[in-house]
Amino acid sequence: MFRAALTDRLQAAFTTAGIVLPEGFPVSVELASDTRFGDYQSNAAMTLAKQLKTNPRALAEQIKASFSADELCSEVSIAGPGFLNFRISPAALSAKVQAITTGTSCDVVQVAQPKTIVIDFSAPNIAKPMHVGHIRSTFIGDCLARVSRFVGHKVITDNHVGDWGTQFGMIIHGWKTQLDHEALKKHPIQELVRTYKLINAEAKADETVLTLCKTELVKLQQGDEENLAIWKECVRLTLVQLEEVYGTLDIEFDHYLGESFYNEALGPLVTDLLSRGIAVLSEGAAVIFSEGTAAVEDDPFMTRDRETKEWVQLPLIIQKSDGGFLYGTTDLATINYRVQEWQADEIWYVVGAPQQLHFRQVFAAAKRMGHSTGMMHIAFGSILGPDGKMFKTRSGETVGLLEVIEEAIERARAAAEEKDQGLSDAEKDEIARIIGSGSVKYAELSQNRLTDYKFSWDKMLSLQGNTAPYLINAYVRTRAIFRKLEGSEVTLTPEIALTEPAEIALAMKLAQFAEATHDVLVDHRPNTLANYLYELANTYHSFYEACHVLNSAGVVRNTRLTLCEATSRVLKTGLGLLGIQTTERM
Ligand code: ARG
Repeated sequence: MFRAALTDRLQAAFTTAGIVLPEGFPVSVELASDTRFGDYQSNAAMTLAKQLKTNPRALAEQIKASFSADELCSEVSIAGPGFLNFRISPAALSAKVQAITTGTSCDVVQVAQPKTIVIDFSAPNIAKPMHVGHIRSTFIGDCLARVSRFVGHKVITDNHVGDWGTQFGMIIHGWKTQLDHEALKKHPIQELVRTYKLINAEAKADETVLTLCKTELVKLQQGDEENLAIWKECVRLTLVQLEEVYGTLDIEFDHYLGESFYNEALGPLVTDLLSRGIAVLSEGAAVIFSEGTAAVEDDPFMTRDRETKEWVQLPLIIQKSDGGFLYGTTDLATINYRVQEWQADEIWYVVGAPQQLHFRQVFAAAKRMGHSTGMMHIAFGSILGPDGKMFKTRSGETVGLLEVIEEAIERARAAAEEKDQGLSDAEKDEIARIIGSGSVKYAELSQNRLTDYKFSWDKMLSLQGNTAPYLINAYVRTRAIFRKLEGSEVTLTPEIALTEPAEIALAMKLAQFAEATHDVLVDHRPNTLANYLYELANTYHSFYEACHVLNSAGVVRNTRLTLCEATSRVLKTGLGLLGIQTTERM
């Protein structure tokens, strides 16, 4: 990566110049904001001069004189009050493009210290409607898993499905009284959700129904055979259908260790936490209180009373006075398991922002239990409908992953039909699956995860703009060139000469793929990669308009074909990291 190489050399230049950097001083290099002066820039000299109270320009001159530019930079210059600008040499750039077209990883370097990272994402709740949060979690989590693996981490994906909980009281009562078993066979998730909603409404209106549900729940929790069998069947049927949906989306999990997997561990866990004094009994419940080691405003176990404005305890309850365990108890048992069984260095939770407090409490409790594992809540905002209100699908009701994907594929299929380029039905189906699911994924991943975004079918399926169809089409166009060449000479040679500005601009963009990929993990932001790919596609189109490829000859032709091949590879690999497949035609 140019950025990393420049950073190393800059660091060395400080040493050569005899300048001792203050502890932790950031010698950072960034992409140039204005490429007229260079490809990369650094404000390190300016920042240091400020600290040392010396003249920034003079300091920059000193560093420039010690900077070893050979083979990497064709020019190092100083701009403004002391910015250092670096121009990458054509030779270094050519070598990079070569490396992209010959290697298997588009020249993305591996991390120096691979970690074992458990990624907890998707995690829908059985027999409850899947909501937009699950859509966002599924796509963001899958992308982070792909990128982490690609750069060399050991990744374990775990779908912590909500397969145990109070909803089963209603489902079991519904199963025994209301369930349409035919519908259940065909569409288990939909039928279970329908039943759940129905019983939920009945229970609200009628106390006796609520009591019946509670009775069923207690029976289940006490191991009643019939209820356990019903519960098991609900879980099984749901997982079968879920796996089909994930299959359509090309998403895989290493594990499906749902909440119920930890049932046996919860009792002993609470006993252990009580005996170690981490949890205490309070009004019959086992809870974890603040121990006052954090500043009160940072302490997740403290909250301000709304009325008195005084700070009061907000404990994490791990066992209710009736003996029931909670969501947080399961999460603590899950952490124990992931650390013991998988030696997780990090655990990432891709879950909506409303669960922020829950995770802060769970992480704080885990730390007190002795875990040093890095735990991160990777939060995200909501999806809004085109009207700016909560997002709804055509049916006007549920906003589950299922419905959204089905509709996206249907719409993409209709578009493929309209174009009709002599493709078979099977080909059109496959294109529709790729474009449909890719469009929904890209609409998600091109957004800053923390902001709410508007869901618009027309926008996300459009061939124009920052969309999956636009990017996939750019890939298809790169392939079309090679299809035209089939039969004639296509062997690329190492001889390339970047001369035209459009060629150099494209080569530079291609070289930055590695940086864009690594940047995803800096703050868990897939949109940095999505936006990079969009810029790459634009740069490619400009190149294609400015430079003849097939009508050129010799080294010029070889250079341009190499750029096309490299673009093709980076688009395919990059989209693949977002979880988006490509097609050869569309
Ligand atoms: N099932 C939960 C929900 O739908 C998400 C679970 C997230 N993972 C976890 N370990 N708590 O809200």
